[in-house]
Amino acid sequence: MSEAQALTEALAALRAEARHALSGAESFSALEELRVSFLGRKGRLAEIMSRLPGLSSEEKRQAGQEANSLKEQLTAWHTLRLTELTRTQEAAWLADFDPTLPGRAPAVGGAHPLTQVSDEICQVFAGMGFDVVSGPEIETDYYNFEALNFPPEHPARDMQDTLYITEDVLLRTHTSPLQIRTLLSRRPPVGVVAPGRVYRRDSDLTHSPMFHQIEGMLVGEGVTMAHLRGTLTYFVRKIFGPDTRVRFRPSFFPFTEPSAEVDISCVMCGGKGHVDGETCRVCKSTGWVEILGCGMIDPNVLNAVDVDPQRYSGFAFGMGVERVTMLKYQVGDLRLFFENDVRFLSQFS
Ligand code: PHE
Repeated sequence: MSEAQALTEALAALRAEARHALSGAESFSALEELRVSFLGRKGRLAEIMSRLPGLSSEEKRQAGQEANSLKEQLTAWHTLRLTELTRTQEAAWLADFDPTLPGRAPAVGGAHPLTQVSDEICQVFAGMGFDVVSGPEIETDYYNFEALNFPPEHPARDMQDTLYITEDVLLRTHTSPLQIRTLLSRRPPVGVVAPGRVYRRDSDLTHSPMFHQIEGMLVGEGVTMAHLRGTLTYFVRKIFGPDTRVRFRPSFFPFTEPSAEVDISCVMCGGKGHVDGETCRVCKSTGWVEILGCGMIDPNVLNAVDVDPQRYSGFAFGMGVERVTMLKYQVGDLRLFFENDVRFLSQFS
């Protein structure tokens, strides 16, 4: 037998064997092994083709064509079997798949309780027509103290209380600079609430060096303390419930005159001072808890921003968001708001 005949016979034998083997492959790995052994670089077809150089050029052309068509045929059988195996596998997966099973719920985040309460408070005031504004946390002495009628030697200006960046630049210790900023950019009548972070050199069980306040201010003609009282009573009842009572206690702030601190009937004992015969731990049996400071804006403040105190008057108030949130949800420990333990936070979403 000539070498050319031997090659043709080898190709025919490979064709017969491969057709049977490829169409019967039972797994992806078995099929892959067959592909390598038939079509691989050191496989059977490559071995046959390596013998082509020994032929005459006419025989070489003839045998080369046969080898190439076999290669195409083997590839086609391999692809066909691969498709069949894939379909079978998908069918098996689908047989196991129960589309009626409940899905896995993704963990969903939520707004921080302080953000929720701050938003809620702002919405109560927005409902009364107040605009929501904000200002910088890094302030100058002028906006934080001087324009608010703090005398140069006032103790709040002390390094003990205030975080200074330079002699004149500081982290705001309250949101009251928004009174000044608002009145410099808008003329009365104007009513705003201003939520934001404030900073003080204070850190213990009940004080955090950063906490949140909401400032409120209304300036116009004929604004009186009665408006202040009505506004705050409405707000308190919206946040703490319709039966909550409100009381004003005389107090002092450099930027308001007269000034008051506002107490509400205790959220824990309802003002009775005791729960089940025990002293109420929230109000220490007084029946009242303090929630904010307020007052009528001092004429010196209005003069500082060129608003005529003969014509205009106004009230202002400032409250701590942490404090309101602790009272509203009866949270006993301030640190819970800053540790961000999901077991705590998730109770609010
Ligand atoms: N800024 C005061 C504080 O931080 C609160 C306050 C605001 C009091 C507005 C009166 C009027 O304690």
